[in-house]
Amino acid sequence: MTDIGKRKQDHIELALKSEHQSKADSSFDTVRFEHNALPEISLSDISLNCEFLNQNLAAPLMIGAMTGGCENGDIINCHLGEAAEACSIPMAIGSQRAALENNQPQTIRQYAPNAILLGNIGATQIQQQGIDLAKRAVEAIEANALIIHLNPLQELVQQGGDRNWKLVLEAIYLCADKLSVPVIVKEVGAGISPSNAKQLEQAGIKWIEVAGRGGTNWASIEYARNQSDFEQQVASPFLNWGMDTAKLLPAISANCPSLNLIGSGGVRDGLDIARCIRLGACVTALAQPFLAPALESTEAVINKIDILKEQLRWAMFLTGSKDLEALKTAKLEE
Ligand SMILES: Cc1cc2nc3c(=O)[nH]c(=O)nc-3n(C[C@H](O)[C@H](O)[C@H](O)COP(=O)(O)O)c2cc1C
Repeated sequence: MTDIGKRKQDHIELALKSEHQSKADSSFDTVRFEHNALPEISLSDISLNCEFLNQNLAAPLMIGAMTGGCENGDIINCHLGEAAEACSIPMAIGSQRAALENNQPQTIRQYAPNAILLGNIGATQIQQQGIDLAKRAVEAIEANALIIHLNPLQELVQQGGDRNWKLVLEAIYLCADKLSVPVIVKEVGAGISPSNAKQLEQAGIKWIEVAGRGGTNWASIEYARNQSDFEQQVASPFLNWGMDTAKLLPAISANCPSLNLIGSGGVRDGLDIARCIRLGACVTALAQPFLAPALESTEAVINKIDILKEQLRWAMFLTGSKDLEALKTAKLEE
């Protein structure tokens, strides 16, 4: 297995462990809807439909970016892709870096011929290798959009990670300007701040995936993999670094009202999805919750999606929201 393949395998094993999930101070639990004892709607009439990148979705949720490029990466992506196709929800694939650098075939489109597929590449890879890498990422999977991920905390804690983040914004600007598909910028669990969102908006970005603190903790995962006692000691105060998803969504919405937001980072159930929509997201993304089902089967992923949709429907019922527009203004507890 290549070094990147081994790293991805470690990531999967560690991401499954609860000790590498953050406990955000202002987690979604603090966002409480006002209970509506008189919903005056029928559960079966509730519509979860929404639009994303000019296409209709069955629900405002997507499979968040998770990795390929390791032994079981292909099987994970096969199960996720087939489920995305069957359920009419988008799938973001994990970083395409290894596949592009090694000229490996990327087969995901065959499992999801009609689904919205989002490509993925690190911002520092584009900064180092140029915009052609981004173009190749899009072409390789006929992506409907490209996600560029920002992960400076993860890179610091990772042994040998990228330390030079100069001109990353410039690289993002070039992608937004030159690519034939929309560009979405995301973090991986430390969050995109309102000031960063403004910088990205000014660079021509229209979509941001918040990926805030509260879910998978990449500093903690890389810390567990780091073999250097010195580097571990340096990293230890930063293990809980980052900004919470539930705080970021309203703050970015207020600061950049024209940006489209994807709520992610610690979204764990359909009630969290409802909270994200209420806090300003158009759609939501969940990564780690799909990992165990993806290792099992396509049916297990579909079952997980069905549970999430039903939980969202219940949240909408209990707030008297007949559709997502209504949910956006559902009352919160004082
Ligand atoms: C196993 C695993 C692999 C991941 N690989 C990538 C990746 O390659 N690119 C990326 O942008 N994000 C990656 N992520 C980060 C997720 O997309 C997401 O932003 C982060 O885990 C927070 O969401 P969560 O709390 O729902 O897991 C990965 C997450 C997991 C669990």
